[in-house]
Amino acid sequence: MNPTIGQPLKRVDGWLKVTGSARYAAEFALPKLVHAALIQSPIAKGRLTTLDLAAAKAAPGVIDILTRANGPHFPPYPADLTKPGSPGENRVPLQDDELHWVGQHVGVVIAESLDDARYAVSLVRPDCAAAAPLLTLDDPAAQKNATMPEKWVGTEELQVARGEVAAALAFAPNEYRLEVIYTTPIENHNPIEAYSTTAHWTAPDQLLLHDATRGIKQLQKVVANAFQLPLENVRIVSPFVGGAFGSKGFQWSHTLLAAAAARLVRRAVKLTFTRAQMFDSAGQRAETVQQFAVAAGNDGKLTALHHQTTTHCSPVAEYPEPCGNMSRMLYACPAVEVSHRLVHLNYTTPCPMRAPGEAPGVFALECVVDELAHQLRIDPLQFRLTNYAEEDEFEKKPWSGKRLRECYARGAEKFGWAKRQPAPRSMPAPDGSLLGWGMATAIYPAKQQPAAAHAILSADALLTIRSATHEIGTGTYTTMSQLAAHALGLSLENVHFELGDSQFPQAPVNGGSWLTASVGSAVLAVCAELKKKVVELAGSWPNDIAGLKDALARSDQPQIEAGAKAEPDKEEREKFSFHSFGALFVEVRVDSLGQVRVTRATGVYDVGRILNPRLARSQIYGGIIFGLGMALMEATIPDLQTGRIVNANLAEYHVPVCADIPEFDIDFLDEPDPHMPDLGARGIGEIGIVGAPAAIANAIFHATGKRVRDLPITPDKLI
Ligand code: MOS
Repeated sequence: MNPTIGQPLKRVDGWLKVTGSARYAAEFALPKLVHAALIQSPIAKGRLTTLDLAAAKAAPGVIDILTRANGPHFPPYPADLTKPGSPGENRVPLQDDELHWVGQHVGVVIAESLDDARYAVSLVRPDCAAAAPLLTLDDPAAQKNATMPEKWVGTEELQVARGEVAAALAFAPNEYRLEVIYTTPIENHNPIEAYSTTAHWTAPDQLLLHDATRGIKQLQKVVANAFQLPLENVRIVSPFVGGAFGSKGFQWSHTLLAAAAARLVRRAVKLTFTRAQMFDSAGQRAETVQQFAVAAGNDGKLTALHHQTTTHCSPVAEYPEPCGNMSRMLYACPAVEVSHRLVHLNYTTPCPMRAPGEAPGVFALECVVDELAHQLRIDPLQFRLTNYAEEDEFEKKPWSGKRLRECYARGAEKFGWAKRQPAPRSMPAPDGSLLGWGMATAIYPAKQQPAAAHAILSADALLTIRSATHEIGTGTYTTMSQLAAHALGLSLENVHFELGDSQFPQAPVNGGSWLTASVGSAVLAVCAELKKKVVELAGSWPNDIAGLKDALARSDQPQIEAGAKAEPDKEEREKFSFHSFGALFVEVRVDSLGQVRVTRATGVYDVGRILNPRLARSQIYGGIIFGLGMALMEATIPDLQTGRIVNANLAEYHVPVCADIPEFDIDFLDEPDPHMPDLGARGIGEIGIVGAPAAIANAIFHATGKRVRDLPITPDKLI
């Protein structure tokens, strides 16, 4: 039978996607489905005094309007989801009349058609008692309420120090020291598919949801808690998610509002965000200000690294963007201090966006390293090798596997780094534009979460495996099918992987780049369990399909089922520091108008075993393109008087398109991590973005001699 692991197989769900037969959350046709549109706060801070609904109620097609007056009094979200540092909304909707940002949800119009619902919303007249909002990080009133969060998502230490940072900085002569500030703007997740919830009460105490979520089991818990139902009375079916970019993994008010609206009108209700609502209704990446003080000795070795981050959060949550986490250990350095400060502003609650913390944090760190190398007249790649961390100096543990030196060497070789002229503006391109070469390190944690799977082997030797995981575009259907085919020696055609249903066995939120290690382990475990059962029945595992059918026919069971659960190996996790690594080299051309084109991107990644190089490469392309958008284009721009987002659309919030894509040369070391479970694969969903903005910014410096420390690097900053 076919070998499946390591093959560049096409997506098993590709056909469904390109033909439009893959069903996304907004595409489930239900009988008598009606449409909802959100009523939102027009002000950034204050109180809603009255909500005049008369005109809206009289508008064509309107069935009812859900507000605090007639809506449910939701109990608080489950306590484990709202600890300080946890992502997602902390407050249930319709709790009181306080307004904390423009766009906060205050009600829902339900109408026969989407147009009717949206038109009626335009007729709602909210009266508000407005207060002066806090809208900038440096507002003294906001500064006064700044906090120093302890942990990120309950695990990562946000305030850490080792060694004598102040002394090392004071000791370093000026030419060996650098103090700079890097800033990144608010950024918003803009996957093609907007958030969408379709809620259908199939009985007074039975709720079916189609929701654009990558956290089915968690959302089931959130919704069951909100409506005080047993878990199993809430079913979420979501076989495809149209991209997440870090969103869709946490609790937000629209899911509960859609379910409450459906209960109010006793009809199935669909609530889909407009593109503008993607900017104010369910998370964003916080603005960051990152202050650095670094020093090195005359041997080029870092002697001190101080990385202070300030980010914003809404007034009603405690989620910090953890920019300093990789600074704790990416380089060897005896004196390191990392801190995070949180300032509460009147903007919507931020949450993780692809590579939370790493994306802005490693951008800044990898630019600072480039700046210091330049200042010391050391090649930036050589500088990184000089400061190579042989172990994780923060956790004081050996790496589970780190072959970053090989990534640097192979990447440099493929890219032609040796031909780089060190001085900025020294490599003009034939077309008269300035050519620049830059590089950066990529790093991302390699995690695993508990996960379970169920397997059914039918009489005709078709294997179905189920787990409540998700397909957000990363290729879950394909890689999980590959793993099962590999484990049992079946061909891919005989394996059917099912996901996206809360009735399936437990799987984690599809985040943190841990899906493959988590759900993949469960798939391998359930296959082993199934194999054991067949061997018990048949004496051995048949080595072809005919033999398998035969064995099944001889058994007196219509089908054979197995269940299994996989958990991280606690001892291994204690012993080692688990991370993936990569080295990215880019070429940019900058024309006389300050327009930047990224022409080449060469990356070599150490991410453990590669299950499917076609999908793996696609993940890295996506990550780098995401990083390109972050480097050159993406910025959510609030009006600093009102707190409204002025570019809440894809015409003015720029993201990369086909014409922006560089020529890629992406390679993997493809060495299994001996301490990761089973096949030794680490996650690849997020590492692609990490390092990309810095490599581009460093290349722009090399091209132009201008060091832009404020993202995005738009033409106005270069001319
Ligand atoms: Mo990523 S935003 O940690 O899924």
